[in-house]
Amino acid sequence: MRIDVVTIFPSYLAPLREALLGRAIDRGLIEVAVHDLRDWTHDVHQAVDDSPYGGGPGMVMKPQVWGEALDSVIGPVIDSPARLVVPTPAGRPFTQQLAHEWTSAERLVFACGRYEGIDQRVVDHYAQRMPVDEVSIGDYVLVGGEVAVLVMVEAVVRLLPGVLGNPRSAAEDSFSDGLLEGPAYTRPEVWRDLPVPPVLRSGDHAAVDRWRRDRALERTARLRPDLLAALPPDALDEADRAV
Ligand code: ADE
Repeated sequence: MRIDVVTIFPSYLAPLREALLGRAIDRGLIEVAVHDLRDWTHDVHQAVDDSPYGGGPGMVMKPQVWGEALDSVIGPVIDSPARLVVPTPAGRPFTQQLAHEWTSAERLVFACGRYEGIDQRVVDHYAQRMPVDEVSIGDYVLVGGEVAVLVMVEAVVRLLPGVLGNPRSAAEDSFSDGLLEGPAYTRPEVWRDLPVPPVLRSGDHAAVDRWRRDRALERTARLRPDLLAALPPDALDEADRAV
């Protein structure tokens, strides 16, 4: 997978080359390029924004600069089946399911807006040429899309084959079965008077699986009742309902 990010703060994206993502780059599993939007300006001030039509506070990012940048980064669409992602608090929610869907894209191009956003015609224009997603990482407002890109890229890349050491880590994540994951423990057996739940040391795999499922159900009911309510009717069996 190739990932391109266009931003006015390229250094904000430096963490894309750290840790798990850095190793995925080194091993050739992903390719990452970060581009400075101002490279496509033509005036001395390298202006990327202008005041909004209709008035109001803040500035709107100019469509001409974004058009030149994205034409150049995306290239002829025929050569590069890319998806364009525009992070914005006004987008649809980013979820584990969307992260899974994006793993089948050969290219992801992220357009980071700042200020009051990007002139809407940029999204409207590229939506005629390629899949475009306006996506929010949560119901709060960040200063720009850069941090949202870090979040989304990390969520997608860890799902790519070969990136995680143990593929079960991704298969058994929170959300993969519609529930939050339950608690985890390691040595020592007792820490500050707190013991590890005995069932986890019993060697009874069926009992361990049942215990983990029960804790996942309990935690989800307590913290995210909306997730429980959204499960398909056949997702819970008799034993689950008894929790
Ligand atoms: N840009 C500003 N806030 C954002 C959010 N919550 N999600 C995605 N992009 C954003």
